[in-house]
Amino acid sequence: LWLALGIRKRQPGEPPVENGLIPYLGCALQFGANPLEFLRSRQKKYGHIFTCKIAGKYFHFLCDPFSYHAVIRQGRHLDWKKFHFSTSVKAFGHDSMDPRHGYTTENLHQTFLKTLQGEALPSLIETMMENLQSVMLQSDTLSPSKDRWDVMFESGYLTLFGKDLGNNKNAARQEAQKALVLNALENFKEFDKIFPALVAGLPIHVFKSAHSARENLAKTMLAENLSKRQNISDLISLRMLLNDTLSTFNDLSKARTHVALLWASQANTLPATFWSLLYMIRSPEAMKAANEEVKKILESSGQRVDHSKPQLTLSREDLDNMPVIDSIIKEAMRLSSASMNVRVAKEDFLLHLDNQESYRIRKDDVIALYPQMLHFDPEIYEDPLTYKYDRYLDNSGQEKTTFYREGRKLRYYYMPFGSGVTKCPGRFFAVHEIKQFLALVLSYFDMELLDSAVKVPPLDQSRAGLGILQPTYDIDFRYKLKTQ
Ligand code: HEM
Repeated sequence: LWLALGIRKRQPGEPPVENGLIPYLGCALQFGANPLEFLRSRQKKYGHIFTCKIAGKYFHFLCDPFSYHAVIRQGRHLDWKKFHFSTSVKAFGHDSMDPRHGYTTENLHQTFLKTLQGEALPSLIETMMENLQSVMLQSDTLSPSKDRWDVMFESGYLTLFGKDLGNNKNAARQEAQKALVLNALENFKEFDKIFPALVAGLPIHVFKSAHSARENLAKTMLAENLSKRQNISDLISLRMLLNDTLSTFNDLSKARTHVALLWASQANTLPATFWSLLYMIRSPEAMKAANEEVKKILESSGQRVDHSKPQLTLSREDLDNMPVIDSIIKEAMRLSSASMNVRVAKEDFLLHLDNQESYRIRKDDVIALYPQMLHFDPEIYEDPLTYKYDRYLDNSGQEKTTFYREGRKLRYYYMPFGSGVTKCPGRFFAVHEIKQFLALVLSYFDMELLDSAVKVPPLDQSRAGLGILQPTYDIDFRYKLKTQ
């Protein structure tokens, strides 16, 4: 009977299991409604690890941060590729990028590390800084009240995918270029809305306008269009080359792999920038400390703010030397991130926890970490729902890296970028670009909230598990160019 109903019975040595009330979905609805609350209540009932059936799969939620390492260490029993590659195929519609499926031999992970980190970083940062300033300040059509989502999206888009200006840099060409990017933003938003549904396994055909939005994006990223663009990032040019030389993808499939990267580079960055800016503006102490930090950095390199000639530069060293703004961003992400870290069991094995207990895990089961439980743990972060801009600063004003739980120092206390092999390869660029954005906004503009008493909007839980959550509604800011 158990088998016929698709219900799992707990075997000796396995974590406690909840099959949920609905046959296939299991606990999916309760989990989806409020994952943090759901997991906390189960943790209270069962302890460090428990199993929930969610949409036909068994998820083992590991809730003890001291045991995270057993999963993050990436032992031979755990597979990270299966889940990631299949999610990307479901959402973006390209052929599988898993070399085991035979469509490509590219090692995607290596491509990302090579083009987003280390030596590749300074030129990405430099291009982003130029793009941010030209989008913020130089275009005729832009007023200082320009929506910040557009500014980040446009600058990030141009930084990865280059510019199509040809030899002719006249105003009409500039306008056409801007229209293309803003059109991409509209398509991106339309597609992004249904992203959680695609990850959950719904076919894109159900969503007509989101489907055509994704395909419109893909068309702009066909090789014939990308090849007209100049100053394309190493990431995209290397991916184009490897698509052409190592894969059997057709043109559309290749283009869709670029759409996947557009999404990865923007979907979390945009809300992370929103929360960083909102929390910073709401906190007079944060604003004061951030302003002082930016001023000091610019003075130390002899730069003056001049909005008729917006050419500030912040090197990688400058950006690495901004602990206040770093903490402002980290704290904003602590409060808004809800990613889930997932691995799949390659075979039956024993998972050893920190407290010496071991649990039997079955082949094809999923092991999941939900770091929001860490981020909102009052034992680690006192008063966890309160924004404290200096939470990640130590007594000497440098980055704080020691956090404790039950008197023990934690190795994992902040995980909005995931963990281990699947840790976001764009995380350095991401934090740098948000720092650049904040530093430029502080340098060029006086800002305030339209409604100074406005409440922080609640998190939109529909994206829980996928990264930085969006606000349930937007907040209006007022920008005014600083008088010089
Ligand atoms: C993957 C977070 C910005 C590129 C991921 C993952 C997370 C994440 C949680 C998945 C890790 C996992 O599955 O365990 C973020 C956040 C960002 C951000 C919070 C901004 C605040 C960026 C940017 C880029 C980028 C700017 C590129 C320019 C990627 C790529 C992957 C990824 C390519 C897939 C890696 C793989 O599957 O091997 N990111 N990300 N991300 N991110 Fe980011």
